[in-house]
Amino acid sequence: MNKHSHRKDEHVIIAEKLYTAESQNGLSQIRLLPLNIPELTLAEIDLHTNFLGYSIEYPFFINAMTGGSVQTGKLNAKLARVAAITNIPMATGSQSIALSIPETKASFEIVRQENPQGLVLGNLGAHHNLSAANRAVKMLNADALELHLNVAQELVMPEGDIAFKWLANISDIVNNLSVPVLVKEVGTGITPKTLHFLQQTNVKYVDLSGYGGTNFVKIENERRKNKELAYFDELAITTAEALIAAQAFKTDFSFTASGGIRNALDIVKCLVLGADNVGISGQFLHILIKNGEDGLISFIEELKQQIRQLMLLLGCQNISELRQVQYILSPCLLNFKNQLS
Ligand code: FNR
Repeated sequence: MNKHSHRKDEHVIIAEKLYTAESQNGLSQIRLLPLNIPELTLAEIDLHTNFLGYSIEYPFFINAMTGGSVQTGKLNAKLARVAAITNIPMATGSQSIALSIPETKASFEIVRQENPQGLVLGNLGAHHNLSAANRAVKMLNADALELHLNVAQELVMPEGDIAFKWLANISDIVNNLSVPVLVKEVGTGITPKTLHFLQQTNVKYVDLSGYGGTNFVKIENERRKNKELAYFDELAITTAEALIAAQAFKTDFSFTASGGIRNALDIVKCLVLGADNVGISGQFLHILIKNGEDGLISFIEELKQQIRQLMLLLGCQNISELRQVQYILSPCLLNFKNQLS
C-alpha cells in the first residue's frame, strides 16, 4: 500500500478512536423557546430545504470523509448505499489521491455506482486548479464539488503543505466549474474575516464546519512522532460561534453547518441560527463502524422523525419558519457575539 492510502486508513481509525458521544460544538449554549399551542400535526411538517441550489427532502447529509484505499473504498460503498436508501446527499473524502494515483480511483467511483440517482458531492483541497476540479467532478458524475480549507490540519500533518495561496484558485473554480461549489472547513470553523475574503469571489455556498466534533489538529498530531502540536486547535471557533458570526453575511451566502453534530436538536439549532442544511461526518462514521449499514439507516430515519417532532414543539411547519424561533444565548456566547460586532 502507498503511504497516501495508509494515511486515509489512519484518518478513519484515529477519528473513531478520538470520537466522543458528547460534542463540544457549543450548541448547548443556545436554548430554543417552544410554542405551547403549535396548531400543527406531525404529518403537516415539511423538511424540504435548499442545498447548493437543489431542493432536498431532509435538511442534513453525509459530509466528506473518505476514499483512497481498499478499506476506505468499502466504507464509501456502505455510506453510498445508506445515502441511496435514506435519500440524503453524500460527499466523498478528498479525491486528491485519485488524481495522482489512478489505482485509488475505484474507492471513489464506487460511491456513484452504489447511488446512481442520488446527490453526490466530490471533494478537493483548495490548492487544486480548475482542471483538477473538472476531473474530480467527472470521476463521480458529481452534482457539486466541495473545496476544503484546512490550514491547521496541513500545518500539523507531518507531511502537510506549507504554501497557502488559494483565493484566485477558488475564484477560478467557482466561476468556471459546471456544478455548484461548497467551500468548507474541516472542523476549525470559518471565521467572519474569511467570509469577507470569500465575498471577493463568487462563492455562494459555505460549510462553516466548526470546532466541536472531529478534530483534525488532534488527528494529525496523533500521527506526529512527538505529538507536540495538539494545542494548535485553540485557534478555532465552535459550530455555534461560527453560525452566530455568519449571521452578518446571510445575504451573500447560503450556509451549511457542520462540526460535532450528534442529534436532531443539534440539527434544528443550526437551522434556527440560519443554516440551510447540516453536514454530519464523525457521528455517522461511528454508528456505521459500531452498528453497520442497517444501524446507520435506522439512526438516520430516527433523526428525520425527531426533527419533525422538534419542529412541532417549536410550532414550525417548514424550515424557513424555524428562522422565526426565539432563542436565548448563554452569557458566554452572547459575549462572543457582542465582541464581534
Ligand atoms: C473528514 N473530513 C474531511 N473533510 C474534507 O473536506 N475532506 C476530507 O477528505 C475529509 N476527510 C475526513 C475523514 C474523516 C475520517 C472524518 C471523520 C472527517 C471533515 C468532515 O467533512 C467535517 O468537516 C468534520 O469532520 C467536522 O464534522 P464532524 O465529523 O464533527 O461531524
